[in-house]
Amino acid sequence: MPILCYEISGDSSPNERSTTGAEDGHIAAVIKGDHQEASAQLYSELAANRLAMFLGIPVLVGVPARRSIESTALRFAALRAAEAGLDIYDFTDEDRGDGDEDEDAEDAVEVPEGVYRNTGHVRAMAALCAKYPLEAAAIAVFDLWIGNEDRALNFKGQIRGADRGVIFALDQGSSLLSCRSTVDSSIDLLSRQDYPSFHPFQKLVNARYCGAMVERVVSMPDWAIEAATVYQDTVGNVILPDQYQCYEALRERKTILGGLVDRVLF
Ligand SMILES: Nc1ncnc2c1ncn2[C@@H]1O[C@H](COP(=O)(O)OP(=O)(O)OP(=O)(O)O)[C@@H](O)[C@H]1O
Ligand SMILES: [Mg+2]
Repeated sequence: MPILCYEISGDSSPNERSTTGAEDGHIAAVIKGDHQEASAQLYSELAANRLAMFLGIPVLVGVPARRSIESTALRFAALRAAEAGLDIYDFTDEDRGDGDEDEDAEDAVEVPEGVYRNTGHVRAMAALCAKYPLEAAAIAVFDLWIGNEDRALNFKGQIRGADRGVIFALDQGSSLLSCRSTVDSSIDLLSRQDYPSFHPFQKLVNARYCGAMVERVVSMPDWAIEAATVYQDTVGNVILPDQYQCYEALRERKTILGGLVDRVLF
């Protein structure tokens, strides 16, 4: 499978100390922070990204970032995928696809009853899940665990052609302590066994692969969840006690994940 690369932007110059030809350069990124609609977006993006990296979920890598001149304002930089030259279907585009589009690769797939239709792209979504069943299952189960109701319009992938390509999810900014606009309302929601109540990949994922993914999440050690969710300091608007609440909520959600997956995805 082709490796997902990130986009080098602008010019690079030789790194003066390097003896092996390293260069000083720039990587393109989408840079996000907290917002009044999403007071814990920065923390949630960061924590979700670290959880995803541990579990091997195909989400775009993101890192904490700041400008060297303003030392306090923390940002989250989602590294930009290098999409040039690749035929990537853009599910983040709100204007594409009403479910009846006549794309050749997408025509071949069947769309089962009960799929998620609210954002369009239905045939393309079915084609994507058919082509990348493992990755789709991984993303769907992960979203249910971290309480991400905002996966629709937040992934992309190469659908056309028989060869395998890349698939990736982006924007976990509406999960964890940011699944609602405030931290408290998010924690309330995370404690519920019936949240989230839908997913764009519902009815399109493979039960065996989802079961394996649930196993992977359930066997994730506490120390790894803690390392991803608890920092030594306030992160954006999120203070340490809230970070511990997020950690506890995720541990608790492990115990309900199997049932949630059965109800929402099948
Ligand atoms: N790392 C990335 N690589 C490529 N494209 C990206 C990346 N991050 C974001 N985008 C593009 O920018 C758009 C907006 O980014 P993002 O979804 O993270 O912002 P947002 O403020 O959460 O928006 P929304 O609330 O609409 O989801 C995405 O829908 C996607 O098209
Ligand atoms: Mg988005």
